[in-house]
Amino acid sequence: MQLPGGTNLIRIDNKVALITGAAAGIGAAIAEHFSEAGAAVVVFDINGEGARRMEEKLRQSGRALAVIGDVSCEEDVKAAIEQTIREFRTLDILINNAGIEVAGPMIEMTSSDWDHQLNVNLKSVFLLAKYAIPHLRGHGGAIVNISSVHAFVSYEGNAAYDASKAGMLGLTRALALEHGRDGIRVNAICPGYIDTPMMDEWLRTQPDAAATLRQVLGVHPLGRIGTPRDVADAALFLASDAASFISGTFLVVDGAMTVAGH
Ligand SMILES: NC(=O)c1ccc[n+]([C@@H]2O[C@H](COP(=O)([O-])OP(=O)(O)OC[C@H]3O[C@@H](n4cnc5c(N)ncnc54)[C@H](O)[C@@H]3O)[C@@H](O)[C@H]2O)c1
Repeated sequence: MQLPGGTNLIRIDNKVALITGAAAGIGAAIAEHFSEAGAAVVVFDINGEGARRMEEKLRQSGRALAVIGDVSCEEDVKAAIEQTIREFRTLDILINNAGIEVAGPMIEMTSSDWDHQLNVNLKSVFLLAKYAIPHLRGHGGAIVNISSVHAFVSYEGNAAYDASKAGMLGLTRALALEHGRDGIRVNAICPGYIDTPMMDEWLRTQPDAAATLRQVLGVHPLGRIGTPRDVADAALFLASDAASFISGTFLVVDGAMTVAGH
């Protein structure tokens, strides 16, 4: 959301935002957009090289910190929040974006595959919220969880991913309810197909990637797939004071794909 001349319409100046999975894809776009909108950004990612590269990029025009760790590991999450507070003294915005997709027929999944999928996508939201909320309280904190249209529509071979993304919506509502009185707003975004490394990886698993891509484009009434920036725009809105009476809900960012029945 930029005014002609490149100025951001929505500003989050002097806010501190921790974004998980911010070394690539949607998380990277959110990190760059939030930085342009005036926030100090904590890039929390398991990919150390990618996180440090993003920190360096953001530091050219703003404040940034790379924290390397696994969002499903309680010690790493606790350390990430501690490092954030040590560096910036506060935390205003938490974006739970890091996620993986463990695909395949459910009956062939091992229980450790299931745990891995649920731990990275869902338990992480609980852990980040648990350690972040004491710092988000009392000054208009905001949490945005990056779920998926998989929270309410299913595609074959995605049982654990679908369950993790539906669970994120339940947790979004529960956190909004439990922490509304702390002045914390909690919302989710449900993206459709977004052009990121995760989507490239999925296309590589398809027998005919070019045909699958054509089919994917065809199910979008808007005639294109989403960009990471499309999701970053929605995240900036929900994290900002422009959404100050919006909590416990989700925003679908899918080019009308799901209303078209896909
Ligand atoms: N790309 C899409 O079409 C799409 C659609 C709907 C929802 N989403 C969701 O959006 C989020 C981001 O997806 P993306 O496409 O940008 O993915 P991506 O694979 O392109 O990037 C994910 C980032 O998360 C990091 N990450 C992965 N596991 C981690 C862990 N355990 N701890 C810390 N960091 C970790 C990766 O290193 C990477 O930087 C995910 O939650 C995904 O489920 C994506």
